[in-house]
Amino acid sequence: MGATLPGLLSALLLLLLPASLRVRDQLLLASHRREAEDGIGGGLHPIVLIPGLSCPDLEARLTDAYRPLKPGCSRVEGEGWFGLWTNRTWELDVERAECFVEQMRLVYDPVLGDFRNLPGVETRVPYFGSAAGSGSKIPTHPEFCMGALRSALGRLGYREGETLFGAPYDPRYAPPMPGQTSQFYSRYFRQMARLIEDASERNNGRPAIVLGHSFGGAVALEFVRNAPLQWRDRFVKHLITVAPTWSGGYVRPLTAFVSGLDLFFIPAAPQLAMRSMWRTFETAVWRPYRPRRCLGADRW
Ligand SMILES: *[C@@H]1O[C@H](CO)[C@@H](O)[C@H](O)[C@H]1NC(C)=O
Repeated sequence: MGATLPGLLSALLLLLLPASLRVRDQLLLASHRREAEDGIGGGLHPIVLIPGLSCPDLEARLTDAYRPLKPGCSRVEGEGWFGLWTNRTWELDVERAECFVEQMRLVYDPVLGDFRNLPGVETRVPYFGSAAGSGSKIPTHPEFCMGALRSALGRLGYREGETLFGAPYDPRYAPPMPGQTSQFYSRYFRQMARLIEDASERNNGRPAIVLGHSFGGAVALEFVRNAPLQWRDRFVKHLITVAPTWSGGYVRPLTAFVSGLDLFFIPAAPQLAMRSMWRTFETAVWRPYRPRRCLGADRW
């Protein structure tokens, strides 16, 4: 297994990369392969998990600028930050589910050329850095959101905060196209770089493995692709993307756009009610196979 993994990884990577990047990455992978063969027994490489679309939590805070369509939606338990999308959201009653659908919405700002929250709604992604913070949101499927993988990594000796990390993101935003503004991803890519540098430092300078599942695979790929080559060479041991697009290929995003998406599991909110929310997400109109180019350092 140890001997075939690098081969598997390079095959996977080469399939995912545009031709212009393949030769360079093949060289990089060859050097990584040699290192892996030399360095067996030298300790674990830190691993950063980037989970699928429905996995990261989202917290919100309402300000006086919030003008809810339904008056009840401005009343939330206590003041300050509250869990908007969490592993408890499935418990919402019909009324609160309507508020969820409203407060999750994004609006496109043509002046900014970027998406943002509704006026008066502030959001943040908690548990950045933690792999355990992005657990399954569906009580009957605790293994979702890389739960099974985290357990397996634990058996291999990986420990949260030492060698095992997570980089949850705001699932409503999509990684930007070349030249496109993305306030969310500008910050996220910087945070991710710091996370990886710190993880590497804690582990005797060993570069990190970046592993993304599903939409997280696309996020991982865009992160690595946007990283300056020298930085990448120094800090990224492997990029692993597992099922890095929707299982439905082109068709599922289209049907979700037409009839809503069941990924955000809230029994009290019918799929059609979720449609109005989903359609405002940048991720809803993101196309996995659009042409891209490597941007180098300009987003850092
Ligand atoms: C829900 O998420 C929190 C925060 O990550 C975690 O502490 C808790 O164990 C989770 N609960 C379940 C049932 O997964």
